[in-house]
Amino acid sequence: MLSERMQTVLNKQVRIEAESSQVYLAMASWAEQKGLEGVSEFMYDQSDEERQHMMKLFKYINERGGHAKVTELNGPELEFGSIKEMFETLFNHEVFVSQSINELVHIALEEKDYATHNFLQWYVAEQIEEEAQARTILDKINLIGDDKGGLYLFDNDIKQLSVVSSVAPEA
Ligand code: FEO
Repeated sequence: MLSERMQTVLNKQVRIEAESSQVYLAMASWAEQKGLEGVSEFMYDQSDEERQHMMKLFKYINERGGHAKVTELNGPELEFGSIKEMFETLFNHEVFVSQSINELVHIALEEKDYATHNFLQWYVAEQIEEEAQARTILDKINLIGDDKGGLYLFDNDIKQLSVVSSVAPEA
C-alpha cells in the first residue's frame, strides 16, 4: 500500500510525464510544419514514449492500492526560434524531469517504500539515456551551425535515432 505522501508525489509525476508528451507533440508539429520530416518523426516517437512513461506510473499507483489521477495539463510552447532552440528546450526539460525523478527516489527512501524505490530505478536509467541522447543531438546541431546541407543530413540522420529509441526502452 502506498503512503498518502508517496501517492501524491507519484501522481505529480504522472502529470509531468503527460505534460512531457504534450511538449514533444507540440515540437513534432512545429518541425513537421517546417518540413523537417526526420525531426518531427523523432518528436512524435518521443511524445509516445512519454505517454508510456506516464502509463507505467499510472498502472503502478493503482496496482499498489492508490488512485492514479488524470489532471489538467499546462500548455506547451508551440513556437521555436530555431531547431537549436527547440532541442535546448528538450534538453532542459529532460534535466527537469530527472530532478523530479531524483526527488521521488529520495522520498521513497524517506517513506521506507522499497518497492517504489525499486520501481523508480527504471526511470533513473531512462533519464540517463534521455539526457545523453539530447546532449548528443545538441552537439550535432552545434557542429552544423547555419549550414543548410548539414541540416538536411541531420534531418535524415535523426530518423535512425528515432528508430533506435522507439525500440530500446521497454515500458
Ligand atoms: Fe519521461 Fe523524457 O522523461
